[in-house]
Amino acid sequence: MNDLSYWRDETVTERDLGFLQSWFSRYCRSFYTGNEEDRKNLLLKEDHTRHVCENMRRITKDMSLESSKGLLAETIALFHDIGRFPQYAEYKTFRDGSSVNHATLGTEVLCREGILKTLQESEQQIILQPIKFHNAYAVPDLRDDDTLLFLKLIRDADKLDIWRVFIEYLALPEKERASAVGLGLPHIPEYSEDVLSCVLSRRMASLSMLNTVNDFILMQLSWVYDLNFKISFILFRERSYLKKLISALPSTEAIGKLSLFLEEYLKERLQGAPSHHEL
Ligand SMILES: [Fe+2]
Repeated sequence: MNDLSYWRDETVTERDLGFLQSWFSRYCRSFYTGNEEDRKNLLLKEDHTRHVCENMRRITKDMSLESSKGLLAETIALFHDIGRFPQYAEYKTFRDGSSVNHATLGTEVLCREGILKTLQESEQQIILQPIKFHNAYAVPDLRDDDTLLFLKLIRDADKLDIWRVFIEYLALPEKERASAVGLGLPHIPEYSEDVLSCVLSRRMASLSMLNTVNDFILMQLSWVYDLNFKISFILFRERSYLKKLISALPSTEAIGKLSLFLEEYLKERLQGAPSHHEL
């Protein structure tokens, strides 16, 4: 399973990535059980990973990143949520606060499995650091420019798919939903004023503030303040995420105002700089 003998000590190649993808699929499958609910939750994360890889390809292509960097970025995307599998197996939840930090766990899994060990030490760090911090509330002060670039890339590629997952989750009848997506929050027609005011003051809401699924939607809307590249805003608009998330909230006057407020923010971010620009 861990035959890495053909690896060079340079950068990740297409062939290497193919090998890592097969390894990842086998790793995911090793967690499947006969339980339908567990299978649904785990499949969702595997599918999420596939989409995050696609987002990453789209973003790095738009930015005209050299191909070796693009492949490294895709490797990070492939492994960014690997910690979700042992997290779910042990705790049956994707809520880090009541289980374990899945990003830290992910880096531990990669080290334990030794899947990166034939890469140069510097490349291993460029892969591990962005995975470790992909879910941090804010981008930490990292000294290495490459690590910082890859961290920003994975944070954008990840968010762009979490929005898709959540919108699809909301569109399904309750009994068909993958239960762990809603983090166990009640889906009632209420939201918390402090989460709303957070979004209206252009601040990111945090998981600890959430009481309902609507709060979760509001928090996800606040993530637009954490996008790093103009192409991410373009994709956010192209996929109508704002409209879809707003329409899942109660149609109150306050939510109507929030919608206009966020549309204005998007317009601001989309003006000016060319699409490959970091904002
Ligand atoms: Fe994650």
